[in-house]
Amino acid sequence: MTEPLSAPEPQITVLDAGGQYCHLISRKVRDLGVYCEVRPSETPAASLRGRRGVILSGGPASVYEEGSPQIDRALLSLGAPVLGICYGQQLMAHLLGGRVERGQEGEFGLAELEVDAPGLLLADLPPRQQVWMSHRDTVSVLPPGFQRLAHTSSCTVAAMAHAGNQLYGVQFHPEVAHTRHGTQILSNFLFRICGCRRDWNPAGRAAMLEEGIRETAGERKVFFFVSGGVDSTVAFTLCLRALGPGRVRGVYVDTGLMREGETEFVRGIFQPHSGAFAVLDAQERFLGALEGVYEPEQKRQIIGEEFVRIQQEALDACHVLDEQWILGQGTIYPDTIESGGTEKAAVIKTHHNRVPAIQRLMEENRVLEPIRLLYKDEVRAVGRELGLPGELLDRHPFPGPGLAVRCLCSREAAPLGRGANGWMLPVRSVGVQGDSRSYANVLCLEASPSSAGSLQRQATALINQLPGINRIVALVDSRVPLEQMTGTRGGLDRVRLERLRRADAVVRRLSCQSGYDRTVWQFPVILIPVGTSSAPDSVVLRPVDSVDGMTAESAAMPSELLSRMAGELLSLPGVCAVFYDLTHKPPATIEWE
Ligand code: XMP
Repeated sequence: MTEPLSAPEPQITVLDAGGQYCHLISRKVRDLGVYCEVRPSETPAASLRGRRGVILSGGPASVYEEGSPQIDRALLSLGAPVLGICYGQQLMAHLLGGRVERGQEGEFGLAELEVDAPGLLLADLPPRQQVWMSHRDTVSVLPPGFQRLAHTSSCTVAAMAHAGNQLYGVQFHPEVAHTRHGTQILSNFLFRICGCRRDWNPAGRAAMLEEGIRETAGERKVFFFVSGGVDSTVAFTLCLRALGPGRVRGVYVDTGLMREGETEFVRGIFQPHSGAFAVLDAQERFLGALEGVYEPEQKRQIIGEEFVRIQQEALDACHVLDEQWILGQGTIYPDTIESGGTEKAAVIKTHHNRVPAIQRLMEENRVLEPIRLLYKDEVRAVGRELGLPGELLDRHPFPGPGLAVRCLCSREAAPLGRGANGWMLPVRSVGVQGDSRSYANVLCLEASPSSAGSLQRQATALINQLPGINRIVALVDSRVPLEQMTGTRGGLDRVRLERLRRADAVVRRLSCQSGYDRTVWQFPVILIPVGTSSAPDSVVLRPVDSVDGMTAESAAMPSELLSRMAGELLSLPGVCAVFYDLTHKPPATIEWE
């Protein structure tokens, strides 16, 4: 048997050239039963000796751009087969004497691939097939010794190979579902070209992970901070099973910024192990520290600092710094590598890591991360094996600082502004334009959200045209017309947080009942200080589709569900209007802050 907690020696390495699909490639390879790692594109070839194959991922750069991701050229003569995908193919062609043409327009979306010569890579596939493209540059002249395997109507070299040197490239993305035979193409690469063997089975792993926990922990006990999220719950449950409740302790911090029923939900999950689990009620402390705070960054900072203090205190109180304890964490694979995880996950991790006591434990190798080799889907599969409820495993991501980032505050009342395209709401939200975060105004279009699809397309164009705006919403329904509303004054107080909690609960209930929650990646509900004196706040619906939270699309909603939701939300005390966020990320972010 392989070492339970250490990774099997990877047969395949995916070199990350900055593509958002890099992790998807790695996951697809694992789904085909081959353990696979992700490393930065510049990884020295010498350190990849012994791999059965290497995949160069796509990426947003052009090979001609200064500072574009590079690879160690020696990789191309290492002897292991190499597959370049999108940017990976272009880089391979560029380095080996072919030509890459700079594209202006690019090709984004579905295309029909016509196979010229299948070779091993496209073996057993139909001569014509649907593929998914996302690129500007293309390979226009093959490098010496290469053969063209396929083309599309607008891409001369859609796939190429130098069979003798075992070098392969594709311009399209075999890892995405829209490439109909993508899995077969990856499978051809792994098994026919690289000769991989099956060494990874994401199902049936719980027993092996538990064995690894026992080995690492030895005689020691394990302490966890649990958040109610999938990762920490699965990691904690594995430890409970591996070591028994007497040697495991979990603490959940109730910040007062949680959703309705959250603390009870988490208590319920760990009810069978109540002796090993405790809720630390810190509501007063968090809400007290946040009183009179209106700026988003200041909110985050205060919450982060309070977390650090409370964690330190909990570690002291439970004597976790003694030799017989180690710290458990629900770190997963994308968190452990440089390029992975969301920007935010990284921020939250710094909060945790900033606790000097935790840093010390890490330096002393006293940190146990039982699921650090797994992707989210694999963690869910383990959770199912453990019998954890689907309600927990299928949860949408939820930000660490909780409802604080969804409850917008304003120090003073201000009127709505009438403009050519609609109403300017007197609130600002965070966005991401270029590489930096923006903090700008919100425009409310005078249009019905029933035409959301076309409005979403307009939204990005409008934001590019209009300075000072990073987000666009449509009005779904309201108690009074927009001209009778104003910006109101509001902070992070109990009344407003409770209002948001109730609105969020309504949205969650209706979207779960209708099955809509399973069609979107995340569905934040935001409270903004816009309304009247008797109903001073409004609710914004923000359903999004995403892969990893780094980019996202505003998701459409069935009109019947939308109007039902708006009706129930407007019956809540203090709620004046319901808006629908039409903006993609970028230029907006998912959360409003
Ligand atoms: P934005 O708003 O930047 O968010 O588009 C991207 C994703 O990150 C989540 N998020 C967080 N997650 N701690 C977290 O664990 C945080 O502080 C945090 N802030 C945002 C957000 O919900 C979305 O899924």
